[in-house]
Amino acid sequence: VTVYVPRDSAAVACGADAVAAAIRAAAEARGIDVAIVRNGSHGMLWLEPMVEVAFHGVRHAYGPVGPADVPSLIDAGLLTAVTGAHHPLALGPTSSLDWLRRQTRLTFARCGVTDPVSLDDYRAHGGYKGLERAIGMAPLDIVAEVTASGLRGRGGAGFPTGIKWKTVHDAAGAQKYIVCNADEGDSGTFADRMIMEGDPFVLVEGMTIAGLAVGATRGYVYCRSEYPLAIAAMNEAIAVARRAGLLGTDVAGSGRAFDLFVRSGAGAYVCGEETSLLESLEGKRGLVRAKPPLPAHKGLFGKPTVINNVLSLATVPFVLAEGAKAYADYGMGRSRGTMPIQLAGNVRHGGLFETAFGVSLGVLVDDIGGGTFSGRPVKAVQVGGPLGAYFPRALFDTPFDYEAFAARDGLIGHGGIVVFDDTADMARQARFAFEFCAIESCGKCTPCRIGSTRGKETIDKVIAGIEVEKNLAIVRDLSNTMKLGSLCALGGFTPYPVTSALNHFPEDFHRSPRLVA
Ligand code: NAI
Ligand code: SF4
Repeated sequence: VTVYVPRDSAAVACGADAVAAAIRAAAEARGIDVAIVRNGSHGMLWLEPMVEVAFHGVRHAYGPVGPADVPSLIDAGLLTAVTGAHHPLALGPTSSLDWLRRQTRLTFARCGVTDPVSLDDYRAHGGYKGLERAIGMAPLDIVAEVTASGLRGRGGAGFPTGIKWKTVHDAAGAQKYIVCNADEGDSGTFADRMIMEGDPFVLVEGMTIAGLAVGATRGYVYCRSEYPLAIAAMNEAIAVARRAGLLGTDVAGSGRAFDLFVRSGAGAYVCGEETSLLESLEGKRGLVRAKPPLPAHKGLFGKPTVINNVLSLATVPFVLAEGAKAYADYGMGRSRGTMPIQLAGNVRHGGLFETAFGVSLGVLVDDIGGGTFSGRPVKAVQVGGPLGAYFPRALFDTPFDYEAFAARDGLIGHGGIVVFDDTADMARQARFAFEFCAIESCGKCTPCRIGSTRGKETIDKVIAGIEVEKNLAIVRDLSNTMKLGSLCALGGFTPYPVTSALNHFPEDFHRSPRLVA
């Protein structure tokens, strides 16, 4: 019998390793032959560790399972028959779970399903079909396919991936690079990590296709150091791909070279900004570079470089395997395809939900997320990480779409939604935005370096009830300066959470004086 126990960090944090050990020990003691596959997570994080058992090709889910539950699950027949389905932790066949049935999983199709580091499993589930097709295509045709899919940068900015590739393809340079931005620093986001831990080959394949498309022979995955399991999974998958001839001097017999390396960051949020990431990758301090030149022209070591987020690159194999139209058929307006949305914070059902663009914020929070974990009313959600705007319930009809969010002074960013209940103090959240910026600022430009600290001090005065109107005017003025005068998005986008909190929750800035800490 095959038992699946996720190796995903979220599951491991909830005790998945101990659960796997308990199942192995109990099976041995009873003389039952089990194969334990450490799969990725399906993304239902409130059910982790979610254990699955395959009977006659159908996977049955149980969760959340603790090591202490293992004996009773085995007594109920977990390892010997489907009768385990009568256990209180039984959830039914995995494919029938509502959370999964409602999704359109294109990028995450294999995550949770396969053994992440098994090349055979990856291939058995459609892996490397995209690369096989790409090898038979001219580089410009690969670029055109990605452009036609409408895929936009999933790191947050939403720049068309195909156009970025075209710029690098057309740039002159004997050496070009593919860099994957896996520095996923946004609060409440974990999709990059889930892909790297749960389906690392899809990123290897996506980067290889990018290399063939633009003529790059080397790629780097720049992963934050806080993701040790992702780094290990990526390194393992790269080693397997290299041994199988899918990386190296002759990629899959194509006669073309591409190899891949993982580099670990050192824990700075600003190193997720592409030029600062390049500095860090070159072994220097993570300081933002002025643009232009764009990395597409002068990137890593001054060479033309594609820098894409994990999700953008991990979506490319689907686009090549199934064709641009299959991807572009999903979505709304200029937001084509699907977005892996991450629900976090004070939410009942937190996790990863991949769906076509166009679903409303209200459906995501109230229906899919099930409202707050605390059971209290939802007051606000922050969409797009710590630099994203706070949206009140009044804006819950906003469809998940780059342009629709921008039209309401927000951003979808990397697809993170953090939920707050009615106990949240939005003046404190505005203060937090300035404080976060002050801590993470690279210090290169004045509006961000100084503005963030002055902003925090000024909100402190507001919270303490000191000259509230005068200080709020200063906050708005400062926000404007940071928005227009900062060199990168860290300083430039900090005003989003600040001004959205001010605009949508003015009463929180006029409450009775209170202590800040
Ligand atoms: P940007 O708008 O300056 O650039 C977007 C991308 O397009 C960059 O890679 C840029 O080099 C490229 N580009 C622009 N014009 C081009 C051209 N003509 N040819 C080729 N490439 C071109 O945005 P930026 O500063 O890179 O990213 C800001 C976003 O990052 C924000 O929207 C925010 O949501 C997101 N973000 C994401 C985080 C995460 O953890 N994923 C953390 C912090 C911010
Ligand atoms: Fe550095 Fe902040 Fe300026 Fe960005 S906005 S370059 S993080 S000081």
